Amino acid sequence: MAKNSVYIETYGCQMNVADSELVMSILKTKGYELTENINEASVVLLNTCSVRDNAEQRIYGRLGNIKRYKDKNPQMVIGILGCMAERLRKDLIDSKNLVDLVVGPDEYRRLPEYIDTAFSGEKGIGVKLSRTETYDDIIPYREDGLSAWISVMRGCDKFCTFCVVPFTRGRERSRNLDSVVEEIKELSQRGFREVTLLGQNVNSYNDNGRDFADLLAAAASVDRLIRVRFTTSHPQDLSDKLLYTIAEHPNLCNYIHLPVQSGSDRILKAMNRTYTIEHYLNLIDRARKIIPGVSFSTDIISGFPTETYEDHLATLDVMEKVRYDGAYMFKYSPREGTKAYRMEDDVPEETKAKRLNEIIDLQHTISYDLNQKMIGTDEIVLVEGKSRKSDEFWAGRTDTNKVVIFPANDEIKVGDYVKININRATSATLFGNVIEIVNTVGENVSLTA
Ligand code: 5AD
Ligand code: SF4
Repeated sequence: MAKNSVYIETYGCQMNVADSELVMSILKTKGYELTENINEASVVLLNTCSVRDNAEQRIYGRLGNIKRYKDKNPQMVIGILGCMAERLRKDLIDSKNLVDLVVGPDEYRRLPEYIDTAFSGEKGIGVKLSRTETYDDIIPYREDGLSAWISVMRGCDKFCTFCVVPFTRGRERSRNLDSVVEEIKELSQRGFREVTLLGQNVNSYNDNGRDFADLLAAAASVDRLIRVRFTTSHPQDLSDKLLYTIAEHPNLCNYIHLPVQSGSDRILKAMNRTYTIEHYLNLIDRARKIIPGVSFSTDIISGFPTETYEDHLATLDVMEKVRYDGAYMFKYSPREGTKAYRMEDDVPEETKAKRLNEIIDLQHTISYDLNQKMIGTDEIVLVEGKSRKSDEFWAGRTDTNKVVIFPANDEIKVGDYVKININRATSATLFGNVIEIVNTVGENVSLTA
């Protein structure tokens, strides 16, 4: 076992992936080595997610598993980072005695100190949330590659009644715009071709009056060969300025993740989502006018407390109306501390599961139909590497984030932009043939609204 060698496993959303990169950077600066082999590690960290109960159960299961390594090597420090830290500090350290270290998302700067405490035999605990911490000055540790996550905000002030994030990640705060731009410049020099700007609700980004549209415009201007994506947008705050900005910059991807959560106004109100379906559908129409060819994805929860069959039908209805390219679909999971937790979880498990299956089936059909319509069209694809199934095929993504598989060809390199003619499609994947290497992200779209 190498002294000072750290192994990290990351669960949950992309924000956690970005946070693990921050943590690695902080630890490397203090002389720690990273290892991908848990057997070599003196410190094992799990960066955890609390958003649904099954995520937490998986992590408990994994901890039980990891205990075996500690039995072999009692010096090993086991730590919990991220969203479970604040919530389950007592449970993890006191009652179950599973871990040596619990550090929440705003205390990563002090992680090396907490690790030292744990090595000296005491529990290292840091779970305070901060109103100001953005880790602006820390460049995350990233392997070379094509695609990077950049967190531009932390926390959330929306308090949707089902969601634990405002409690586990604290108040909303934005990073400095210039520091984000600097980070993209560095990625450009290293040959990255795609960045995704992350926040729980990026539309409320605010750096001394500079809003998210300003940030996107600045990000897109760094390197026209870098595609810029972002997630997540709340339907209440998506401005026309933002839509026009996306339309104006060819390397700002025409793809908006706009979680609807439910198709029923009554349920949206109970969720404190602060918009109606009418508002939501108007927004979709506006976006489609301003950004020709824009595609949407969504998050949907089935079985929120008091959800009736009619409410469920309203969700299917909004899916039919919008025709999302993709959806992340979940059963409602009560989270302690949230407002909805105090409501009775009255939709039976089998009903939740049945409704969720109907939602998944409908989305599958819609994705299939939308993809069929792409047969015959030409798409600009960023080449990401060999396809998972065969070395003779390559894989890449369209601007709207669809995976495209095409025959390998000696002239094409990872990181090229190629024009592909689509000739076959399933609900998840497009297939096609290479027309030419274009090495541009595409044309400027025309502004119509
Ligand atoms: N139960 C089910 N799904 C949830 N989400 C957040 N909290 C819960 C919960 N308690 C979903 C929402 C959110 C996505 C990230 O996770 O759809 O948009
Ligand atoms: Fe949770 Fe709502 Fe904030 Fe998203 S916007 S993180 S669902 S509280």
